[in-house]
Amino acid sequence: MHRITILTLFPEMFESLKHSIIKRALDNNLFEINVVDIREFSKDIHKKCDDYPYGGGAGMVMMLQPIVDAYKSLKIENSKFIYASPRGKIFNQKMAQEFSKYDDIVILCGHYEGVDDRVIDILGAEEVSIGDYVLTGGELPAMVMVDAIVRNIEGVINEKSLEDESFSNGLLEYPQYTRPEVYEKISVPDVLLSGDHKKIDDWRFKQSLEITKQNRIDLFNKFVVNNFKLVKAKERDYETLCNYKRQSIFVFDDVPKQDYDKINNYLKTSFKKLIKYFQMIKIKDITIGCVGVRDFEDGVLLDEIWVDSDYRGNGIGSKIIKDILDKHNKVYLWVYKKNTKAFNLYKRLGFEIKEETNSRYKMLFEK
Ligand code: ADE
Repeated sequence: MHRITILTLFPEMFESLKHSIIKRALDNNLFEINVVDIREFSKDIHKKCDDYPYGGGAGMVMMLQPIVDAYKSLKIENSKFIYASPRGKIFNQKMAQEFSKYDDIVILCGHYEGVDDRVIDILGAEEVSIGDYVLTGGELPAMVMVDAIVRNIEGVINEKSLEDESFSNGLLEYPQYTRPEVYEKISVPDVLLSGDHKKIDDWRFKQSLEITKQNRIDLFNKFVVNNFKLVKAKERDYETLCNYKRQSIFVFDDVPKQDYDKINNYLKTSFKKLIKYFQMIKIKDITIGCVGVRDFEDGVLLDEIWVDSDYRGNGIGSKIIKDILDKHNKVYLWVYKKNTKAFNLYKRLGFEIKEETNSRYKMLFEK
């Protein structure tokens, strides 16, 4: 059985943990919680556990002796020792999962100005913070950590729930609904009533992506750059590819009206034959861009790289280009002079200008 031991000056606070799912886990002997009152180990007649800081300054510091003796009384040999402290590494789901594998976890709750720093070395403590704010003590952080750790102990929560929830796959969770179907004229999304599981999964995935992009751009960027894949373009991708090509032509070039027909004609004829050189950039089943590479002169031509605007700025483009540069000795490309962002990226990656027209540079990367 897993055991979590709390070293605290305020043991009564931990009564509030014993509710709901945590209570059920305790009742089912899936883990045990052992709250130890540090004060009982004080050698002072008034049970004092704090003292003035060396070097002066405001506040009091928790003394070593009661803490070390409280820990020693446990006679635990191998434990994960956590010191709840605003100075620590920020607690997250990955840590909760990792800590849940230990048979013995000890959490020390600091108070006042913290504890005598030597406790970290003496007890091999890892400092862990629950966020960038300072609380009056480590008890609430310890409870937060206990709750998040216990949920990951086998048997406490249905495994499927753990798989789908926020952070488990790097994205935030999709929205959930329950009865009634309509409440004050607001309906549950139709797709959830369709019974079509593939459609429901796709909808949920898109919602997760969108919510993560809105609320946690850091997680979104990490997710997309680590989860995109390249899939050979098929006949059915032709329209999408034409759209990408049109966007890349029209966004950066003042194309004269009379050239529209020429470009559309090119897309209908020559471009159709180039599809076989293209790959679609996808996240799960969602197409987010394309890349085309084909033989050209004495090397290859990076014919096109396009990433939808919603998915830019996270390094997908440079990751794909770096991969191409790894595989080929000479890579050519054309870039619109106006597209300074792309031009600067190509320069950073080692491309040099070889030729120029009124509107474009021809660039070459050579190993
Ligand atoms: N003690 C006080 N503030 C804290 C925080 N943010 N995290 C962990 N322990 C703390």
